[in-house]
Amino acid sequence: MELLELMKERHAVRQYLSKPIEEDKKSRLASYIDSLNKKYGTHVQVFFDEKDAFKNATIDYGSFSGCTNIVVIVGKDPVISGYVGELIALKIQEKGLNSCFVAMSYQKGIIKNKTAKAKGEKIQCSIGFGYGKTSGFAHKSRDLKKMLIVKGEKPEHLDEIAEACLLAPTAMNQQRFRLVASKGEVEIQKHGIGFYTDFCLGIVRCHKDLITGAISLD
Ligand SMILES: Cc1cc2nc3c(=O)[nH]c(=O)nc-3n(C[C@H](O)[C@H](O)[C@H](O)COP(=O)(O)O)c2cc1C
Repeated sequence: MELLELMKERHAVRQYLSKPIEEDKKSRLASYIDSLNKKYGTHVQVFFDEKDAFKNATIDYGSFSGCTNIVVIVGKDPVISGYVGELIALKIQEKGLNSCFVAMSYQKGIIKNKTAKAKGEKIQCSIGFGYGKTSGFAHKSRDLKKMLIVKGEKPEHLDEIAEACLLAPTAMNQQRFRLVASKGEVEIQKHGIGFYTDFCLGIVRCHKDLITGAISLD
């Protein structure tokens, strides 16, 4: 599937069916995560069929139900962790599953105790996933004009890059980033104060790198 289509199809999904994930999808996702850990130096771990994963959890916002599969994004650097997390979210979507990033608070539960962390690493965020009851809906995007700075000539592919970046999920849909285009290059920068802005910067940069072909989803 076209990457832009995949980005358009991914939405935060918080209610899940009890339908189990097929074994081959589980093993392919687990090896994809292993390969990302090797490439980016992260320590992401995936837990399947954890019935109590969200038990006793106070989720900051959003109301989750039926979610038993979790990717725990462990890493040292929040930007790299966000980047890797979004590659995983898109890979999940490519497999016909749904997902939602989950901020920290549920960690007090069973999954926190099972998650391995080396020195200097922390749980940066998580992703709940599975077969969604719905496929979610498109988030509202901020006005591109307020998020874009073009110095000099407009770079080739700027429109496509901007479209991909605006499709990126951000915590509480804050979209605290901007695009700075200069000398043919487009840079994604943090802009404004908010929650998880470094992690979200990584997510947006991931969309940009995928759409420009700097990286692939393989
Ligand atoms: C870093 C991060 C943390 C998030 N934490 C939560 C959360 O704790 N609870 C929740 O319901 N949604 C959470 N979300 C989902 C966002 O609310 C959602 O991605 C955003 O509103 C954009 O919508 P979309 O994912 O459908 O594009 C989080 C998203 C990100 C990127």
